[in-house]
Order: sequence, then structure tokens, then C-alpha cells
Amino acid sequence: MEKPDILIVEDDESIRTQMKWALVHDYNVFIAADAEKAMEIIGTTHPALVTLDLGLPPDAEGTSVGLDLLYRIVKTDPMTKVVVVSGNAERNSALEAVNEGAHDYFSKPVDIDELKAILKRAYYVHTLETEYRALQSQVESDSFGELVGASPEIQEVFNIVRKVATTDVPVLITGDSGTGKELVARAIHNNSTRRDHPFIPINCGAIPEALMESELFGHEKGSFTGAHVQRRGKVELAHKGTLFFDEIGELPLQLQVKLLRFLQDQKVERIGGRTIIETDVRIIAATNTDIKNQVANEQFREDLYYRLAVVHLELPSLKARGDDVLLLANVFLSRFSDKDSVPMVFSKQAQSAIMEHEWPGNVRELENRIRRAVTFASGTTVTPTDLGFETSGPGMKTLNLKAAKEELEIDLIGIVMEKHNGNISKAAEELGLTRPTLYSLMKKHSIKQ
Ligand SMILES: Nc1ncnc2c1ncn2[C@@H]1O[C@H](COP(=O)(O)OP(=O)(O)OP(=O)(O)O)[C@@H](O)[C@H]1O
Ligand SMILES: [Mg+2]
Repeated sequence: MEKPDILIVEDDESIRTQMKWALVHDYNVFIAADAEKAMEIIGTTHPALVTLDLGLPPDAEGTSVGLDLLYRIVKTDPMTKVVVVSGNAERNSALEAVNEGAHDYFSKPVDIDELKAILKRAYYVHTLETEYRALQSQVESDSFGELVGASPEIQEVFNIVRKVATTDVPVLITGDSGTGKELVARAIHNNSTRRDHPFIPINCGAIPEALMESELFGHEKGSFTGAHVQRRGKVELAHKGTLFFDEIGELPLQLQVKLLRFLQDQKVERIGGRTIIETDVRIIAATNTDIKNQVANEQFREDLYYRLAVVHLELPSLKARGDDVLLLANVFLSRFSDKDSVPMVFSKQAQSAIMEHEWPGNVRELENRIRRAVTFASGTTVTPTDLGFETSGPGMKTLNLKAAKEELEIDLIGIVMEKHNGNISKAAEELGLTRPTLYSLMKKHSIKQ
């Protein structure tokens, strides 16, 4: 491996020489005795590391020249890690230097082992930040709107999105929980000529069956108990835009009939209404259930399925997208971390943990873990523990009621859902929950049907 470049800025010749000989084995060493020479070297070689003596001529007894130079280095080369070297009396200035962007400091007399250890850590951070930068620019070239991904699997999805966006054909998006179905639906809308009109999502799993029809088609005042005012349905609201049926597999059979009728002529009639309203709506539907299986079991109408799945887009699991997981991890890390401070990075161990994890909850799980890690991380480097990856063995669980409750929820829902072959209504009944409540719990815990 190539040695990293380091610049030693030190006006005392004997210390300079001592440091040089200590470091020459591991680094390409450059030296400067004053600020001008230092800036000249920085401008041409952009070293990864700089050790900076604060007391430089003409203010060799003070720190003004050193601090000013630090300021210039940080400004020209923000990736360069500056380690400040100070006399014991200058401890406060050293701290001030760290505030101004120095990576670390150590005091004279120079202890070679300590110096080496500090520089090694500084270089490690420099490497992580450089990799992070590279990833950032990769993200820009490998994004499609808000969708991020460089893998051939996801690029293929982008291609289909581009193609179908120019048409009005219905699209059925399938994929496991958290794979980005809604985001893809929005991308289709945003790339279509309908982009200036509404994108209206309707979650078929979260709305109680009794309210579903009115939610979709609207109602007139007084058409049923509780209908105090006239209300337009989502279909009408989506006029000229896109209507997104999320969790379409949860749409009750009776409403499947009504939806099919709507798809045939794009006409709606509010409940209790007498007028027929013409609409122009593009339909996109999504599901994480095995909808073909539902068709086979007569839980989902075959004719409706074919109407919706004119184009079928299957989203790959996150695990199947190779290095995209790291790319996305970095996108979320920069999204959630404080924009004004030093960029946060993943430790090498955290990177491996991210690559190895199975990601059953896909991109949503990744996003949640990173949001959590940003809160938990103590410094700017994210560790596997921050990400919630158990580093302690079994039997080390803490007695946290909230965590225990969540664990119980996850186990119980899993067992009951399996018992009822993924039928949410039946599982909810057994658990004593409403269908929407169970549904949102499953979503929260990334439990698959
Ligand atoms: N390729 C991607 N690039 C960036 N962010 C993504 C990508 N895919 C998904 N996300 C993000 O991950 C989260 C989950 O995505 P989304 O809600 O679209 O998934 P979903 O498949 O609809 O999930 P569910 O089945 O649980 O409803 C969202 O916050 C979304 O912004
Ligand atoms: Mg969704």
C-alpha cells in the first residue's frame, strides 16, 4: 500500500528532524519551518495529515501564526487532518485549535509512540471521510430522483420507471416490506405528465372496511349515519393525477368489484349521490403479499389483477442489491446527521456489519437503524452497537420494559400470522386488535405477511 503524505510544520530544527525520522517509515514526510512554506506544500501535495506547531515565526513565543495557518489549512483542504503540537503552557490554545477544526492535539515534549498513535487514528478518520466523499459523488450519479441505487437490479427498475412514466398504463409494484414501493410509485408520477397534479395514496390495509367505499368514492351529506357533510373521495381528488393503492391485496372483495367497475369507465358516483362524475386518473397499485396466490385462493379477483398488473414491477430485496446497501447507508447517514458539523462516518466494523446483515425490513429497516445510530453514536464514527447490532452474546439482555414488550409483540404477531396463513383480519381477531392496528404494528416491526 502507498504511504500516506504527512506534512510536519515545526520551526525547531531538532524536533523537526526527530519527528521526521520517527515517521518516515510509515509516511511520505514533507517538512516546513514556517507558514508560507507550509501553504506551498499543502497547495501542491494535499497531504492527508499535518502536524502543526502553534508557535511559528514571527510569533514563535505565541500562537497567532499557528492558529492562522490552521484556519487556512482547514479552509483550503477540509479533508486534511491537522494535529496540533503545543507546549504545555499552550493547552488552552490547543483546545481552541480543536474548536477551529484541528483533529487532535498533543503536547511537547514529543512522545513518539503517542504521536504515532494519534496520527494513526487521524489517518483512519481521513480514510473514512475520503471514502464517504467518494460515495457521495457516486450517489449523485446513481440516483433517480429520490431513488438511490447503482446495482444492475435497481438500475433495471429505474429503466422501467422511466418507460412507464410516459404512459398511463396501470402498474403493479410488488416487493417485500420496505423495498421502496411507494417511493417508486411517486417516481413514476413525478416523471409523468401528471406531475403537476395530485399523487393520492390510499392505504387499503389501514382503512376500516366500513369506511373504505366512502374514502374511495366519497359521499353526499346524510347518505349514512355519520355523514354530516358532503365529502369527495380519493378518486375524485386524484383527478388528472395518480391514485396509489397501497397494500392492494387488503382491499375487501366487495370493493374490488367497485374498483374494477371504476377502472372500466373512470366514472364515480358518491355514496348517496345521483350525479356521475368523470375522472382522469392513473392507477398504480402495490402489495407485499403474494397476490397471485391470493388470486389462486379467490381472495383477489383475477379480472382486477389483470387490470392492475398491465405492467408488473417487482422490487428486489435490499440484500439482493449488492453494494447499494452501503451507498444507501451513507445517504441516510448524511441525511440524518447534523449538516453543520464534521460528517459522520461508519467504522470498518460497522461497514462489515451492514454488508452482512440480512435486512429483512429492507430499506426501511436500514433507514430506521441509521436514524437510531445517529442518535446513539457518541462521536462522529458509527459503530455496530450504535446500529443496534448485538455485540454482546445471548443472556446479556437488559431489563428494559419497552424492549421486552416490543419483542413479545414481534413474537406473538409472527406466531399468530403464521397460524392464519398471513390473513390479517383473522390474526387481528385472535390478537384482539383491529385490522389497522395490527397492520401498523406489523409495519413498525417490519413483519412480513
Ligand atoms: N432506492 C431508495 N433510495 C432511497 N430511499 C429509499 C429507496 N427505497 C426506499 N427508500 C426509503 O425507504 C423507506 C421505505 O420505502 P417505501 O415506503 O417506499 O417502501 P414500501 O415498499 O412501500 O414499504 P412497505 O411495504 O413497508 O409499505 C422510505 O423512507 C423511502 O424513502
Ligand atoms: Mg409502502
